[in-house]
This record gives sequence, structure tokens and C-alpha cells, in this order.
Amino acid sequence: MLGTLFLGGFGVLVYFIFRYYRYVSLYPAGPVPLPFIGNLHKIDVKAFHSSLQKYGEEFKGVYTVFMPIPYVQINDYNTLKEAFIENGDDFIDRPVNKSMQETLTFAPYKGVTFSNGDNWIVQRRTALSILRDFGMGKNVMEEKVMVGNIINEVLFGFRYKDAECAPLMEYVSRSNELLDSFADSPLLMLGMGFPILTELPIIGWYTLGRYKAVAAKAILQISAFVVANVDKTLENYHSDDEPTCFVQAYKQRMESNEFLDLMNLYGCCADFFNAGQETTTITLLWAVLLFAKHADIQEKLRSEVFSVVGKDRLPVMADQSQMIFARACVLELQRVANIISMNGPKVTSRDVVIRGKKIPAGTWVNGDIHYLLCKDPVFENPEEFQPERYIAADGKSLRKELVERTVPFSIGKRACAGEALARVELFLGLTSTFQHFRISARPGQIIDFHPIPGGVIRPKHQTLRVEKV
Ligand code: HEM
Repeated sequence: MLGTLFLGGFGVLVYFIFRYYRYVSLYPAGPVPLPFIGNLHKIDVKAFHSSLQKYGEEFKGVYTVFMPIPYVQINDYNTLKEAFIENGDDFIDRPVNKSMQETLTFAPYKGVTFSNGDNWIVQRRTALSILRDFGMGKNVMEEKVMVGNIINEVLFGFRYKDAECAPLMEYVSRSNELLDSFADSPLLMLGMGFPILTELPIIGWYTLGRYKAVAAKAILQISAFVVANVDKTLENYHSDDEPTCFVQAYKQRMESNEFLDLMNLYGCCADFFNAGQETTTITLLWAVLLFAKHADIQEKLRSEVFSVVGKDRLPVMADQSQMIFARACVLELQRVANIISMNGPKVTSRDVVIRGKKIPAGTWVNGDIHYLLCKDPVFENPEEFQPERYIAADGKSLRKELVERTVPFSIGKRACAGEALARVELFLGLTSTFQHFRISARPGQIIDFHPIPGGVIRPKHQTLRVEKV
């Protein structure tokens, strides 16, 4: 009797394992997963990019990591282009996933970053068109860029005075807390993989509930900030008045498009705030550390700023055409201070074949830009900080083949919606900082380049020496 039971159980197990690996074989081959947990036991959830970098040494192009759901990784530039550009329409959507939508968003499926389909098209197109009307990425933005709370001004039409920045700073630290709380969350990944688990008593708490509780607290504060500012901005606004900021311009368009409503407006503002506030600031923090370490590069940048801009005015975007070295510095900065641990997740809208490998419909896909910026073979000695690598032999132009492959904003239709603004912020932020300050390590100090673990790769706090130039 016992023997029959044992044999029966063993048979079921073998059948289950057989079915599991047959399912695994439907995806581009990668590291061998274990049933139920996939490759999670080998992945450092605090630093996805490091684990993926290790896998990248073995698997090139397209491969699958099971987390525990199949998550296809693309880590070669031409393959990424084939997927996100040539087959762009198949890689547009974000995953429809309860755990992700309920823990990370202001309002599930609203706004730009996490919405899909027609709603996403309308939100993104409208947001970009309004931002362009307000001069995103153009000279008009220049004087605004020089203050930290530019996004606040663009969205809501006012900027916080230094002394009154508390709500803004509170918002930023809540967003960071939210991201950090997810950095150590293998059980959340399990819940994402098996949504059924999130519905069960007790198990549901460990795989979703407790993260939702953290998120709810943070999102509540984030939402309160966004809602209060949107409402304040609309208080005395009438649709026939000339809009003075993003929120008013959006409100004006609400009458002509059913997808433009108040929840989507809140969602868009939260998205632009979240995606736009810390990304450029953190990149500039890395810049300070990198240029402090490489004094020769800092001096070269400063001497270009002095020769083109001088000391009596701030740099403007028009200076760029004469500042090849500064442009190379921005590119190299974004390549090395590569702050996004994992690109925004996409999901395939139908079965699609990339580099001869089939990716079934509904599969999560990561265009691994982190790996590309660190490891693309076009970058010689990629671990070194060398802005000169971008400058062509004529000394006057940039090497197009390298510029094309520097992809911190990702590529394709879902690429960063704030790229133009970020480029202005980085160029002006970098050049004006070193126009005014010489930054170096303190005597005997070794600058720490090990990042704080998390979704956005941030440097540790450390004190440097700053001299007015
Ligand atoms: C150094 C600065 C920045 C970097 C490296 C960066 C990078 C990225 C990346 C990798 C994505 C995901 C793209 C994808 O899923 O394929 C993204 C999305 C996004 N970014 Fe940025 N970003 C930066 C600055 C900004 C700024 C300043 C804003 C807004 C003012 C912004 C707004 C957005 C939005 C709204 C999305 C979602 C786009 C969508 O889903 O359609 N970003 N960004």
C-alpha cells in the first residue's frame, strides 16, 4: 500500500517536473531554473543588474531568467533594436500584474508609466505635446532648469522657495522609501509570478499584503502631495484662460478627449514627478564623485567651459555646439553612472521571433540597458571613466557609433518620456557646477563608488572638498 502511494507520488512528481521543463523550453534558453522558484535563489533582488551581468557573460542576445515567471532578457544592442524598434509595437505594453500595479502606482493603469493601450497613447502624446509647448528640451527651459524643483514648476506653475521645500523633500524621501522597500522582496516577486498566492490567507500577506501596506503609506503621502498641488493649480482656472503650466494645459484638453480625465491627470503628474525628480539629481551626484576622482578630466572640462562660456555668465544649450568635451562628459557620465538597475518591464503583445528565438505572447521582457552600458563591446575598457572615447579622430565631432549605443533612456516607443529635459538638465548641471566649483576628495579619502542597493542606483553619502573657483 505504502509502496503504491510512494510510486504514485513519485510518478506525479516526475510528471510535474517533466511538464515544468517542457514549459521552460518554450522560452529562449537561459540559466536552468528550479520548479516553482525558477532562478530566484541565484538572483540578488537588491541588485538585479549584478546578477544579470553575471548571466550576461554566459548568455548573449536573448535569454530567459525565471523570477519565477519567465522574464526574457535582451542584452545585445542589435537584438534590442530588432525587438524595441523593428518590432516595436509588440513590445509596448507594461505587464498587467496586480502586485506591480497595486504597489507601485498612484492609480493602477492611469497616467503614462504604467498604463497601456489607447489610454497610454493619449496620455503620453498629450503630456509630451504640452511639455513641448512649454519648451521642454529647448532654451526656454534653461533658467528653470537651474533650480532643483523644475518639475514642480512645469507641472504646477510654481516653484518652492528654498525655505519652503519641506513638502517637496518629503515627497522625494517617501518615493525613495517606497523604492527601497521593494529592493529586498523575493516574496513579492513570487506573488508577481503566482497571483493566486496573493489571494490566499497568510500567504497573501507575505507575498503582497505587507508590501501594499508599506506602499499604501508612502503612496498616500505621495498622492496627497500631487492631489493637493493639482487641485490648488486648478482652483481659479477656467478652460478659456491661457494655461500657464502642465496641469492647466491638460485640463484645457480634457474637454476634447475622453481619455483625459482627472485620475489620469493625477497619474501623469505623479509619473513625471517620480521619473523626473531623482533620476537627473542622482546622475549629477555620481558626476560629483567621478569628477572628484578624475581631477584631470574635471580640469579639462572647466577649461573648455571657461574658453567658450567664460566666468561671467552661466552656460546655455547653444554653447553645446562648441563644447565637444562637455558633451562627451555627459555621455560618459550616463554610461558609467548608469542609474537604472532594470529597464521598465514590457510584455509581448503576441508571439514574436527575435534573433530566431520565439518569445510567446504575454512574456515579460527586460531590455537590459544596464548591461549594454557596462558591457557593450564597442566600449573599450568599459570600466574606465574616459569621456575622450566619444570624440572622433578629428577632435571636433562625436563618434556616432558609440553615441547610438549609449542608451540610458532605453529605445523605442516606450523609451523615457523626459529624455529631452534630462539632457538639458545634465548638460547645464554638469557645466555650471564645475564652472563654479573645484571638487576633490579630502586628504586621505578614498571615494566610495559602491552604490546603495535599490531599484535606482544611488551613491552613498560622503563628504568631499569643495572650493569656489
Ligand atoms: C538621467 C535621467 C533619466 C534617465 C536615465 C531615465 C531613464 C528612463 C528609463 C530607462 C525609462 C524606461 C523606459 C522603458 O520602459 O523602455 C524611463 C521612463 C520614463 N521616464 Fe525617464 N529617465 C530620466 C529622466 C526623466 C525625466 C527628467 C523625466 C520627466 C520629466 C522622465 C520621465 C519618464 C517617464 C514619464 C517615463 C515612462 C515612459 C512610458 O512608460 O511611456 N525621465 N526613463
